[in-house]
Amino acid sequence: MNALRPGVLITRRLFPEVLQRLGEHFELRDNPQDAVWSPAELIERLQGQWGVLATQGDRIDASVLAACPQLRVVANMAVGYNNLDLGALTRHGVQASNTPDVLTESTADFGLALLLATARRITEGERYLRAGRWNKWAADMLLGAEVHHSTLGILGMGRIGQAIARRAAHGFSMQVIYHNRSPLDAATERACAARCVSKAELLRQADHLLLVLPYTPANHHAIGAAELAQMKPSATLVNLARGGIVDELALAQALQSGQLAAAGLDVFEGEPQVRPELLALSNVVLTPHIASATRGTRLGMALLAADNLVACHQRGQLLTPINAPLPRK
Ligand code: DGY
Repeated sequence: MNALRPGVLITRRLFPEVLQRLGEHFELRDNPQDAVWSPAELIERLQGQWGVLATQGDRIDASVLAACPQLRVVANMAVGYNNLDLGALTRHGVQASNTPDVLTESTADFGLALLLATARRITEGERYLRAGRWNKWAADMLLGAEVHHSTLGILGMGRIGQAIARRAAHGFSMQVIYHNRSPLDAATERACAARCVSKAELLRQADHLLLVLPYTPANHHAIGAAELAQMKPSATLVNLARGGIVDELALAQALQSGQLAAAGLDVFEGEPQVRPELLALSNVVLTPHIASATRGTRLGMALLAADNLVACHQRGQLLTPINAPLPRK
């Protein structure tokens, strides 16, 4: 152990390139078994560490910070950071970063893929075929919803929403409407060929509704029974953001009763657990939080998190900060 080199904990198994980059600057404690640690195990491993490269499953809140007073920096390998209590980090003087931009395009690709799979019943068709049930072509077999020239509603119009809008408008001739905390400037709206509408109009008009908004306490169950009731019965809902944005029980009921045609979900409130009510339905496509999962993108995310730690160590400044911590007492 080199006493001059600060310690960094890497909470999950990562790529050799990332270990090599971090190893040039820090004493590393990593997790080659890729174990998922309990909060107590995380606290135990964080003892004495200067920094941590965390992932979206690692909850770092006031209790963790109180138990780990040496911690100075949290580099989150995700663009979303609802796993971090940013207020507590700021009060404790701990700097934090996320990984914007590097995952935008591959996540947008996946958003379209999940929308297509859901609207066009691709995984349902594959299950049907593999189960040996396909014994003849039929004109009315597995009819799905049109994607081209339909209306795409996007809730949350950040970088990923905009990348999806560009694909949908220019690739699929979709009419794109969105709802966001603040409307985009006119030039960005033009590039996305998208129009800002109220949340109520978004729900009413969308043939396909895509959720890409950040998960905050205010957005908890932003799509619940009341919102689902405003959607077209023929509509598709796709969630790429965080599970807690959707009331999953209300969604399962809407899908079961025919109030909503289909859903595609990459994220779940209690992931990796998925509600049995959703597992039981054939009109929902379920994927295991893989929207950013290409090797290039996941490596890019991990390297950006690593570079944040290096920049913080060398210059005291993160590359992609998400807080401005108070000076430490
Ligand atoms: C993100 O970057 O927020 C992704 O959901 C992490 O997998």
